[in-house]
Amino acid sequence: MATINKIAILGGGNMGLAFARGLVKSGKFKPEQITLTRRMLRNVEAIQAEGFPATRDNAEAIVGADAIVLAVLPQQVNNVLDDIKNTVDVSSQFVISLISGVTSSDIKGYLNAKIPVVIAMPNTAIAIQQSMTCLAATNNDKKYIDISTELFNTVGETVTIDEGQMTAATALCACGVAFFLRSIRAASQGGTEIGFHSHDALKMAVQVARGAAELLHQHNSHPEDEIDKVTSPKGCTIAGLNEMEHQGFSSAMIKGIILANDKAGTLYKN
Ligand SMILES: NC(=O)c1ccc[n+]([C@@H]2O[C@H](COP(=O)([O-])OP(=O)(O)OC[C@H]3O[C@@H](n4cnc5c(N)ncnc54)[C@H](OP(=O)(O)O)[C@@H]3O)[C@@H](O)[C@H]2O)c1
Repeated sequence: MATINKIAILGGGNMGLAFARGLVKSGKFKPEQITLTRRMLRNVEAIQAEGFPATRDNAEAIVGADAIVLAVLPQQVNNVLDDIKNTVDVSSQFVISLISGVTSSDIKGYLNAKIPVVIAMPNTAIAIQQSMTCLAATNNDKKYIDISTELFNTVGETVTIDEGQMTAATALCACGVAFFLRSIRAASQGGTEIGFHSHDALKMAVQVARGAAELLHQHNSHPEDEIDKVTSPKGCTIAGLNEMEHQGFSSAMIKGIILANDKAGTLYKN
């Protein structure tokens, strides 16, 4: 399979729909190339109103699709696999699973041992082509990594990892969006307490966060290199930073990521 022409996204919720929107926004796909599914009719109709083909029928949705994207919750995936297992064509289709905690052998065991499976862990910034997506495949399925990389590069950046690291990728990259958003909220709340209206404080915090991330991205530098440029001796930045560290700022972020990692590993099993 040289290119992906048609995609079926089973589960058009937050992530599935964000992925579809991001692909269209990239200009590489038209809405009619992406079919999404949901169980509830009113949700199907809302997706159709955006121009995407949508249906409640997972088996119908995968007909003619090159890539079958699983984007339901871990506890919903077995039902979806049941729906498609008699329709899936192992010679012409492959599965991309976005589902935290579900492995390629779980999917093959349920669906068909011969179906190629790529595990992908994006985040919700996929809707604006700014996802960090980690990709993994095992054995012969590794040949589907290139085509998956091409697909996800249209909606952000990609890194190929070992499948065993996928739980950690969930914590750092998927949950990570929320962790950084909470940091931005905290900065804006601090800004309000020192005198800015909340909408101004939020606007400032968002642009400061964007600038900080871009410094690292464009300079390919380490955070401490950029921090050194902001901290003058006996200055206000180092005083603020040290107080945050005394209060456990870095420790709280690290502990949160470790807990999210522990929890992500149990999502499908429980
Ligand atoms: N959100 C994130 O940041 C993120 C990041 C990376 C990976 N993921 C993974 O992406 C998956 C989806 O997460 P989400 O946040 O998008 O959850 P979500 O918003 O609940 O989306 C799941 C969707 O699946 C639909 N659905 C459930 N059973 C279905 C079935 N049998 N057939 C067709 N559609 C069905 C649901 O719609 P109906 O109720 O209308 O059926 C729902 O809209 C999860 O496994 C998660 O681990 C999420």
